[in-house]
Amino acid sequence: MPLPRFGRLLLAVAACLACALADAAPKELKVGYYAKTCPGAEYVVREAMARALKREARSVASVMRLQFHDCFVNGCDGSVLMDATPTMPGEKEALSNINSLRSFEVVDQVKAAVEDHCPGVVSCADIIIMASRDAVVLTGGPHWDVKLGREDSLTASQEDSDNIMPSPRANATALIRLFAGLGLSVLDLVALSGSHSIGEARCFSIMFRLYNQSGSGRPDPHLDPAFRTTLDALCPLTGDQNVSAGMDATPVVFDNQYFKDLVALRGFLNSDQTLFSDNPFTRAMVERFSRDQDAFFRAFADGMVKMGDLQNPRKGEIRANCRVRNGSPPPLKNHAAHFRLLDF
Ligand code: HEM
Ligand SMILES: *[C@@H]1O[C@H](CO)[C@@H](O)[C@H](O)[C@H]1NC(C)=O
Ligand SMILES: *[C@@H]1O[C@H](CO)[C@@H](O)[C@H](O)[C@H]1NC(C)=O
Ligand SMILES: *[C@@H]1O[C@H](CO)[C@@H](O)[C@H](O)[C@H]1NC(C)=O
Repeated sequence: MPLPRFGRLLLAVAACLACALADAAPKELKVGYYAKTCPGAEYVVREAMARALKREARSVASVMRLQFHDCFVNGCDGSVLMDATPTMPGEKEALSNINSLRSFEVVDQVKAAVEDHCPGVVSCADIIIMASRDAVVLTGGPHWDVKLGREDSLTASQEDSDNIMPSPRANATALIRLFAGLGLSVLDLVALSGSHSIGEARCFSIMFRLYNQSGSGRPDPHLDPAFRTTLDALCPLTGDQNVSAGMDATPVVFDNQYFKDLVALRGFLNSDQTLFSDNPFTRAMVERFSRDQDAFFRAFADGMVKMGDLQNPRKGEIRANCRVRNGSPPPLKNHAAHFRLLDF
């Protein structure tokens, strides 16, 4: 039975009182947030990221991707870093993340360096934001000032991740709609997709494109034939779908090569190529960025700041260990051990 209007109003008021108790006011993020409480934090993060880059060039790209997968799921709150528990499926197991998100150990190393410098002050959510900026700077991209002051979530949600993170099959229309839903513009979408200038993707993410685009039984027609031959050789129909390759021709350098490749129909993911091939507005931006690297760098920095502004309004904490909520039992080596312990 539908509630009378007055009943609905009362319900709304009651719900809002409850939400006011559970939710803190959105935090005011600001540049230099740790200047007094942890001076040098940004320097410590930069140094730890530089060490990671030296060990494995790809790792800094993998860390930068975490900002996207953290911020899109209930705001930038470090939820993506939480390990699953017996009662809480983690975001690490979500469709877009499993066997794909990586370099969590680099975040652990950065966090350890920061904790060493000033324990219990800097959130894991902020570490992702600083480390992502540094990943870009260290590989040749633009610098921007990061706003800080986030708290870490108390929970993670695999379901929310599955519901929001885009598929590599997505077309421009779907991507524009997704970004708009979070207050991000078409320009933000195109610029932020330029993050694929660094890092790698698996054959798994392009098999449909190579062999059965949109269920057609044919490859994506928007593929340079020579490039398709290369991809077919990299990712044969019956091959190992974990094999990965750079998403542009210069995968350890942050530059505008990604956009040049899209113009040449040499985009790696469908979600990349669609920005050039399927929509006149995104196409114009891709063309512009392919010619003007400074314009790309400026739009990218703006986009990262806007994405970093996505907040989780709930009250959080400064996690001591980025993988678990404070006060959790000490971390165990693996899930099997965890379940065995609970059996007793
Ligand atoms: C626009 C929608 C996007 C889609 C559909 C998408 C999809 C993907 C996929 C499928 C991969 C490869 C995963 C794999 O095969 O294991 C990937 C990698 C990556 N993505 Fe995105 N992505 C998008 C936007 C972004 C944004 C906004 C960022 C960051 C600002 C980002 C950063 C990265 C990075 C750095 C990698 C390489 C990671 C590595 O080498 O470990 N992506 N993305
Ligand atoms: C884009 O993707 C959406 C969602 O998958 C689909 O409904 C739509 O038909 C596609 N649009 C075009 C132009 O292919
Ligand atoms: C291609 O996709 C369509 C629709 O999803 C499916 O019915 C068909 O069996 C697929 N073909 C191959 C060769 O996998
Ligand atoms: C990739 O490797 C992981 C673990 O190493 C495995 O579980 C998974 O099935 C593999 N995925 C594909 C698509 O081959």
